[in-house]
Amino acid sequence: MMTAPLARAVVAMLVAAMASSAVHVSAQTAPPQPAIAEGPTITVLTGLTVPQFETEMRHFVQALGVSCGGCHTRGNFASEDNPRKGVARRMIEMTKALNKKAFAAYVPAEGESTLGRVTCYTCHQGETTPKAAPAPPQF
Ligand code: HEC
Ligand code: HEC
Repeated sequence: MMTAPLARAVVAMLVAAMASSAVHVSAQTAPPQPAIAEGPTITVLTGLTVPQFETEMRHFVQALGVSCGGCHTRGNFASEDNPRKGVARRMIEMTKALNKKAFAAYVPAEGESTLGRVTCYTCHQGETTPKAAPAPPQF
């Protein structure tokens, strides 16, 4: 005859064993989920997987015609010392808002910017400062 505390301990062990075997089974059958990108300064580009986040950063590089160091401080991606990083964050918010308002139904294809139909490249076209106006007309 088990004492009540011993019975409770046995039940707890059984529950723990079942829970860990359930975790084991689901880890074998479910496809591996890529981790969500997290960092101390990731405040607006949220909810992306690590590969999606890295792709987005490479889109920024192409859109503005800069290197990673164009917006980041060498050796510290979490630094906020480069003022372009703060501007870029406001631009991400603006681009998200544009897409939400005007192109809500657009679903980006694999590898495209997750931001939507309007991307950084739509305006920047490989330059840090987008053209404001065409060259004056020649008469
Ligand atoms: C146009 C500017 C810009 C360029 C170019 C850029 N980034 Fe970023 N990066 C940002 C911004 C803005 C954030 C913060 C996003 C947020 O607030 O959600 C960020 C965040 C990051 C973070 C997360 C930092 C943390 O808090 O842990 C990493 C890592 C990173 N960038 C890597 C890169 C790499 C690698 C490249 C080059 C391939 C690159 N970035 C190019 C603007 C840029
Ligand atoms: C609707 C057009 C538009 C879109 C979309 C856009 N930008 Fe911009 N961006 C501008 C304009 C215009 C300027 C110049 C602002 C100025 O002259 O002060 C600018 C300036 C910047 C600058 C400052 C560059 C410098 O050195 O002065 C950064 C960084 C930047 N954008 C990043 C981005 C990123 C990253 C995205 C995508 C998430 C983006 N932009 C999307 C219009 C846009």
